[in-house]
Amino acid sequence: PAALLAALDRDHVRDCRKCKLCEKRNNTVFGVGNAAARLVFVGEGPGFEEDRQGIPFVGPAGQLLTRMIGAMGLAREDVYICNIVKCRPPQNRAPLPAEVEACIPFLVRQAEIIAPKVIVCLGSVATQNLLGTAEKITRLRGKFTSWRGIPVMPTYHPAFLLRNPNMKKPVWEDIQQVMALL
Ligand code: URA
Repeated sequence: PAALLAALDRDHVRDCRKCKLCEKRNNTVFGVGNAAARLVFVGEGPGFEEDRQGIPFVGPAGQLLTRMIGAMGLAREDVYICNIVKCRPPQNRAPLPAEVEACIPFLVRQAEIIAPKVIVCLGSVATQNLLGTAEKITRLRGKFTSWRGIPVMPTYHPAFLLRNPNMKKPVWEDIQQVMALL
């Protein structure tokens, strides 16, 4: 699976020009981690630091995600981490529908290659775009749903947790459900 992911990145993502986000990016941010991971985290899209480094979740929110993964008894190398869109939206705005539509086939292919046991969807933008729903994250979080036959646990985004540390408890409960499933 590692070779298939590397080929997808090299042949289709790295030089992608399917949407306007390519115009301002410094780096595409394909994904990182174990190509045979049982657990995949899906975020929204690269931020400043991710665009600069070409690696997902390496800014402040990423450091919190890394700590959450550690609290699960895992390391970043054990899981796979990626985003709905592979290029940074200007000013970190939410990706537009056309951008998601252009980019999500890459995520679908990543999920097919990795074939994880469970996906954790981080935040409302990731969750709504993955599941194709307008339902609020507050309603969706904490309950497994299914996407292409894979159980998905929506939870709050670590960037939201940085602003609302009191929400760490419900997120940890969501994560514990994921660990129980694994
Ligand atoms: N936030 C995201 O949703 N994804 C990243 O890669 C970094 C921050």
